Amino acid sequence: MIIEPLSSRGGASVSGIDFSEPLSEDESFQLRAAFEEHGLLVIRGQTLTKQQLAAATEPFGGPDLSPPAEDCDPKAPGVSEIRTRGPNGEVIHQDDDALLGETGWHSDHAYITMPNRGKLLYAVEVPEERGGTGFIDGFATYDALPDATKQRIEGFHVIQSWAHAQATIASNMAYRDKGESMLAADRFADVAYPLVLTHPVSGRKALNCPPLWAAGIVELPGEEGQALVDELITHLTSSQFVHWHRYEPGDIAAWDNWRYLHAAEGTPGRYARLMWSVVIRGGPVIGREIGVQ
Ligand SMILES: [Fe+2]
Repeated sequence: MIIEPLSSRGGASVSGIDFSEPLSEDESFQLRAAFEEHGLLVIRGQTLTKQQLAAATEPFGGPDLSPPAEDCDPKAPGVSEIRTRGPNGEVIHQDDDALLGETGWHSDHAYITMPNRGKLLYAVEVPEERGGTGFIDGFATYDALPDATKQRIEGFHVIQSWAHAQATIASNMAYRDKGESMLAADRFADVAYPLVLTHPVSGRKALNCPPLWAAGIVELPGEEGQALVDELITHLTSSQFVHWHRYEPGDIAAWDNWRYLHAAEGTPGRYARLMWSVVIRGGPVIGREIGVQ
C-alpha cells in the first residue's frame, strides 16, 4: 500500500490496495491509521460490487445500514446511488446546462444531533466536466484562525438548521436543479453544535461552521452572531483551504465527517454520472436540539 499526500490542502492518496479481496489485518490497520491522520483518503483503481463497497467501510467502522431500504439494492444494504440518469440510462433532467446535484459546503447529517462518522463515495461513471467533490479540513481552518478569534469563539455554539438550508437552496440560483431538491423546511428542529468541535478520536480542534446549515450563534443572538458566522464562513471557504477532487472511474473518496466539510460541484445535465455511496457507521451525539437541555 502506498500512501502519499493528496494535495497541499491535506488528504492522502492511497494506491496498491484492492477492496475486491479481503484485506489483511495490517492493511486494515494502516488504512484506519491513515484515515484518522489525514481525514480524507482518495483510494484509486478499484473495481467493486456494491457488497464489496459496503465491506470497504470495515476498516473505518463498518457500513451504516440506516438509509431507507427503498434507496438501496436489497442485496447491498447501506449502499445508495447518486445518478444523473435513470436506472436504464434515460435522461431525467432536460436542461443540458443544469448543475445536477450541486450543493453548498456542509457536513452530512449535521442538522440532527448525531452526524455521520464519514462516507465513502465510489465513482462508477464520471462526466467529462465537473462532477467533483470539494473538501475543507476543519483542523486547518481552526489552526489558521487568529489567537484572538480562537479565544473569542471557544465555548460558543453554532445553530445548525435544516430550515436555513432549505431557505438558502430556495433563494440561491446557483442551485439550478433546486426544483427537485426542495424538501419540507420544518422537517427537523434546529440543533446546536460546538463551534469549536473537539474531535472524538484525536482530541484536535476543528472549526465547525458548516455554511449550508449555520444559521447563527446561540450565545450571540441576532446580527452579532450572523456577523461572526459570515466572518468564519469567509475564512474557511477561502481558496487556501479548498481541495476539489475530480474522479477517475474506480476512485473512492473516504472522509471524516467530524473534521471535513464537503460540497458537490454538480454535473451538467448533458452528462451521465453514477456514484455509489455508503455511510460509515457510528459516532456520538454531538449536537442538541435547541430549547432542549
Ligand atoms: Fe454530503
